[in-house]
Amino acid sequence: MASTLFTSSLLIFLVLQSSAITLSDAQTSFSEDFIRNQAERLIRSFNLSPSKSINIVRNKATEPAEKFVETKFRFPGLAANSTNGSIDDDLGHHAGYIRIKHSYDARMFYYFFVSRGSRNDPVVLWLTGGPGCTGNIALFYENGPFQINDDLSLKWNDFGWDKASNLLYVDQPTGTGFSYSSDRRDIRHDETGVSNDLYDFLQAFFDTHPEFVKNDFYITGESYAGHYIPALASRVHKGNKAKEGIHINLKGLAIGNGLTDSEYQYPAYADFALTNKLISKSDHDYLIQIANPKCVKLTQQCPIFIRVCSQYYDIRKQCDGDLCYDFSNLEKFMRLDSIKKALSVEGIEFVTCSNIVHRAMTNDWMKDCEVMIPALLEDGIKVLIYAGEYDLICNWLGNYKWVNAMKWSGQRNFSKANITSYKVGGEEAGQLKSFGPLSFLKVHKAGHMVPMDQPNVSLEMLKRWMKTSAGKILA
Ligand SMILES: *[C@@H]1O[C@H](CO)[C@@H](O)[C@H](O)[C@H]1NC(C)=O
Ligand SMILES: *[C@@H]1O[C@H](CO)[C@@H](O)[C@H](O)[C@H]1NC(C)=O
Ligand SMILES: *[C@@H]1O[C@H](CO)[C@@H](O)[C@H](O)[C@H]1NC(C)=O
Ligand SMILES: *[C@@H]1O[C@H](CO)[C@@H](O)[C@H](O)[C@H]1NC(C)=O
Ligand SMILES: *[C@@H]1O[C@H](CO)[C@@H](O)[C@H](O)[C@H]1NC(C)=O
Repeated sequence: MASTLFTSSLLIFLVLQSSAITLSDAQTSFSEDFIRNQAERLIRSFNLSPSKSINIVRNKATEPAEKFVETKFRFPGLAANSTNGSIDDDLGHHAGYIRIKHSYDARMFYYFFVSRGSRNDPVVLWLTGGPGCTGNIALFYENGPFQINDDLSLKWNDFGWDKASNLLYVDQPTGTGFSYSSDRRDIRHDETGVSNDLYDFLQAFFDTHPEFVKNDFYITGESYAGHYIPALASRVHKGNKAKEGIHINLKGLAIGNGLTDSEYQYPAYADFALTNKLISKSDHDYLIQIANPKCVKLTQQCPIFIRVCSQYYDIRKQCDGDLCYDFSNLEKFMRLDSIKKALSVEGIEFVTCSNIVHRAMTNDWMKDCEVMIPALLEDGIKVLIYAGEYDLICNWLGNYKWVNAMKWSGQRNFSKANITSYKVGGEEAGQLKSFGPLSFLKVHKAGHMVPMDQPNVSLEMLKRWMKTSAGKILA
């Protein structure tokens, strides 16, 4: 078994604009350059150009000196009214920094949006993937309270998840977005480091917001958060059992188009691509042979190069060169003096996606995070795995496979459960399979970013899922 610095990381590398498949020379192509290029490609695919490759600052931070700072803010340029409310309303929008207890000097930036419904709604944490991309991408392009107009003003999002929850976004791992440290030892390399930091974050958050401690708490997110979410949920569960710090009222976790279990998800690329006529049968068979579970499991170098014509986040679309989504307005918006002032982040740069944070997680990539889930299910913590049907990169098929293969007391009943039609507004919006606390939802007419493509359906999904108690089907 070959063992070099970069074993077991990026197996799939999707190249656009050609229908042919090539396979790399497995032993030679997996260089440091390859990893760097992969991170840079991710950044280019979102039309981003962060001014730094990581938010490590030169001097030890003097501000904020405290373990916690928070400001209430209102974004300038925000339209005067929401669906309810006037300009004078206290929107309950907060931004702040929490100093991470078990770190050298890490400060995590977060937003906390009090629910547009009721303060008694659950607290929902959203984690963005990458690894290394800011939570602001989801906030402004997926499920946040507002979206950015072309003139950099904001418009309210009628389907923001803050309509049904008290919503938290965190820039993490440290070095991403506005989160920073003066010490490179705070850069994280695995899920132990990531989940301990987030656990410290949550402890400090609830310590300073005791009025939300009793609310239900959910961990949600997308893509590489398929790693973070099980790891954090497991960390919280462990902390609760050990009566460590504040009891966090964890009720469930939801992963959207996640990367959680490579052993099942990597071979599924070929099957998904064949089913969707992106590759030929002979290419498929060759890929299956290369991406076999053994190769993945042994964490050998087995990179695969699939060339497909369509976009790998949404096979209905084409990328324009490297460009798949244009999130460049986010960088323009975050660099406005008025915005930095509103958020009290003057003097701190904004790193939309950090290629150093991304690369630092290289050896975490193939880690199987599914194994952390059964213990949560056994204790009745709800788990929702959902996936937009047109995403290739973290496709529904691979997710469906690991969910079915997961070993827990309800496995047989789950695998035998009927697939039902999931309706929103009288129309089939997806297909659902559910047993006990576990649900799998394939979402129609959506790619990698479900809340962006199907805002209404995603908000309905969240609401209904949070309402159901474990043991009942998400109707
Ligand atoms: C309030 O919002 C609605 C819908 O977005 C808009 O049509 C209306 O002009 C707004 N009213 C004011 C006073 O801004
Ligand atoms: C806002 O409007 C929703 C209905 O759209 C309503 O349920 C809610 O109570 C309102 N919130 C406030 C604070 O008025
Ligand atoms: C699970 O399936 C078994 C056998 O098919 C059945 O006896 C049992 O009642 C099911 N459990 C639940 C909770 O439905
Ligand atoms: C699944 O669907 C079939 C056919 O509609 C039905 O007979 C069966 O009872 C269903 N099983 C469960 C567990 O609901
Ligand atoms: C959103 O879904 C609800 C049903 O849950 C439906 O009543 C409503 O019309 C939908 N709104 C839009 C804009 O699609």
